[in-house]
Amino acid sequence: MLKVTGLEGVVAGETEISLVDGEKGHLVYRGHWAKDLAVHHTFEEVAYLLLYGTMPTGEELLRFKKALTGKRELPEHAKAVLDALPNDMEMMSVLRTVVSAMGTSSYGWEPTIEQAMTVTAVIPTIITYRYHQLNNREPVKPNLEYDHVANYLYMLTGKEPSEAHIKALSAYMILTMEHGMNASTFSGRVVLSTQSDLISAVTGAIGAMKGPLHGGAPSEVIALLDAINTKENAEPWIRKELEAGRRLMGFGHRVYKTYDPRSVALKTVAQELSGKDPWLDLALYVEETAIRLLDEYKPGRKLYSNVEFYAAAVLRAVEMPSELYTPTFTASRIIGWTAHILEQSKNNRIFRPKAAYVGKIPNK
Ligand SMILES: CC(C)(COP(=O)(O)OP(=O)(O)OC[C@H]1O[C@@H](n2cnc3c(N)ncnc32)[C@H](O)[C@@H]1OP(=O)(O)O)[C@@H](O)C(=O)NCCC(=O)NCCS
Repeated sequence: MLKVTGLEGVVAGETEISLVDGEKGHLVYRGHWAKDLAVHHTFEEVAYLLLYGTMPTGEELLRFKKALTGKRELPEHAKAVLDALPNDMEMMSVLRTVVSAMGTSSYGWEPTIEQAMTVTAVIPTIITYRYHQLNNREPVKPNLEYDHVANYLYMLTGKEPSEAHIKALSAYMILTMEHGMNASTFSGRVVLSTQSDLISAVTGAIGAMKGPLHGGAPSEVIALLDAINTKENAEPWIRKELEAGRRLMGFGHRVYKTYDPRSVALKTVAQELSGKDPWLDLALYVEETAIRLLDEYKPGRKLYSNVEFYAAAVLRAVEMPSELYTPTFTASRIIGWTAHILEQSKNNRIFRPKAAYVGKIPNK
């Protein structure tokens, strides 16, 4: 029987969008270090860079921001879909359904940057509309005075967001915008490769993002830290988990065999924002203990904290409700997905791998 490879190491296409070097711990977006972009640039600038390929000039940035801001309102039919969904439908399924409902005939082959911007602009509106709806509150209307990240925070709380929260969430959203041929991006490219449309490709990507092995881990990191609760409990708790053969959420990565550069950058952001917060102090201690014990129980596997571990710390510090962690990851990754969808459309061939048949063969 063939080893189940999960396509590890298989090159499935060429890209100019990003480089993920798992041995060196490097992440590059179109020739720029992602960790620098996260600190020195805005969501809109980096989104422009990923979608268009170059950093925007002042004039280009203004136009891009204005266009993005103008697309925040949900179309009436999307609101009607949101209003019709049952309360027990969880947020990623809601997002998948409402984004899918955006797919009117204007989203045909080929995909455009304009379409990418429309979906990007409405995702925070969908998330916050649903969030308030579930809490029996009126949804907060987008504020056109704010940039993308500030407006997301504003729509969540209805209050003016602090500069520190905007900076921290913006760093998180930039660092999680793009990450090569991961499961959701690959799903998006596969759907697009049939000459389907951008909305169908993004809907598929959201479905892939939903699983805990991909985008669903940060809220589980909170659960892990809540369960550990004290420093003294860290080592026995982690040993018990590893002895039971369970995985520690927020650790390990298919590509990174060293520290995940996003995790390193987010750790600094979390430390700047939360300083001596006891919860963050516990997170730092748990990270150190877990890496040591993972090396003991899984020698040679090179398991370190991944992006989800400190993403949880940053998202918690900006007071993001934990059920919105994966949806917020989606609100960032939409840029990477659509950049790949556009790139796929420029030099497309339908994806069609093979499977080795290991079933029975009829006698005659
Ligand atoms: C991210 C992840 C899915 C990558 O999976 P993968 O590349 O298929 O890695 P593998 O499943 O081949 O793991 C290799 C070995 O390390 C172990 N391992 C990997 N991640 C582990 C973790 N978080 N905790 C404990 N052991 C882990 C596996 O059990 C396996 O051990 P084995 O060789 O004894 O069988 C995996 O590391 C994981 O499940 N992590 C936890 C979930 C998470 O944080 N996801 C967010 C990703 S950004």
